[in-house]
Amino acid sequence: SSLRALAASSSGVRIGTAINTDELGSNAAYDRIAAQQFSSVTPENVMKWDAIEPKRGQFDFTAADELVRFAKQHHQLVRGHTLVWYNQLPQWLNDIGPSLTKKQTESILKQHIFTEMRHFKGKIWQWDVVNEAFNEDGTLRDNLWLQKIGPSYIAKAFTWAHQADPKALLFYNDYNIEYDGPKQQGAYDLVEGLVRKGVPIDGVGFQTHLDTQYGIPDLETTMRRFAKLGLKTAETEVDVRTTLPVTAVEQSAQNAGYAQTLQACLLVKACISYTVWGFGDEYSWIPGVFPGEGAADIYDENLVAKPEYTALQSVLRTA
Ligand code: G3I
Repeated sequence: SSLRALAASSSGVRIGTAINTDELGSNAAYDRIAAQQFSSVTPENVMKWDAIEPKRGQFDFTAADELVRFAKQHHQLVRGHTLVWYNQLPQWLNDIGPSLTKKQTESILKQHIFTEMRHFKGKIWQWDVVNEAFNEDGTLRDNLWLQKIGPSYIAKAFTWAHQADPKALLFYNDYNIEYDGPKQQGAYDLVEGLVRKGVPIDGVGFQTHLDTQYGIPDLETTMRRFAKLGLKTAETEVDVRTTLPVTAVEQSAQNAGYAQTLQACLLVKACISYTVWGFGDEYSWIPGVFPGEGAADIYDENLVAKPEYTALQSVLRTA
């Protein structure tokens, strides 16, 4: 049985994947797995600002619309990724950024959120409204938004997002907040404050980019902690990289990484989706960013299912 079928019969959790839209529609095996195995999809790149508005005021929703159509056709929900980030901003914005006033920056950000969310209004299940706002030490990351607007850019973004599409679930999303420590604490304090002030936030996304050399985080405990604030949780970008070639012990650590993080989602009622960051090693972002590492996905370079896939299946079967 497929991952999505097993999950549907055992829990309410959606099993998702990031989608590389360069493959979609041109690679039959890729399309088949994407449709058969997953009940939620996230665009890996094409809803990011640089893709949506490459020239100021000139919008290109073509690839993202294609993905939304694919999702509808295959009865999948869509995670929108991502509205407010420091990375993958269009060149025109990087160019004018330093000279913007606070008011101008707010207006550009609000306009961006409104334009993109209204374009997809009613078609997005969860939106990553703010992505990766923290440094490892728990302080706010120095980016255009912080520099020009100050820390309130986060609450403002959520407020605008809720106005733009009131039914979408609004998420704060980050990596390395799966582990106990200053970064998790920073994110916790942020979302606790937002909830207390009545800012419209619905959930926290734990990206879950794991590496066998750093161990498996206790996501069950972590997600329960955030759920106590009344928030939903999701694992949004799961992959488990390791050094190449993969040894037997690394393979078993990778299997455990996938299995334990999925189990955590199934155990925590607030956890509504478990998304892998792509499903084929051929398309993974890892080798480009971590030289010498890879094999992080649940299918190999030829789209053959790996032991990690079987590990996920077994967890779903026991649920
Ligand atoms: O689109 C350009 C293309 O025009 C150009 O010719 C080519 C040459 O390098 O680059 C293309 O852009 C690449 C883009 O992916 C689209 O393929 C960028 O170089 C490349 O850096 C970019 O990487 C993406 C990365 O985010 C950028 O930050 C990865 O595919 C994507 O998997 C990754 O995803 C992020 C999440 O959004 C947030 N969390 C971490 C995660 C992994 O880094």
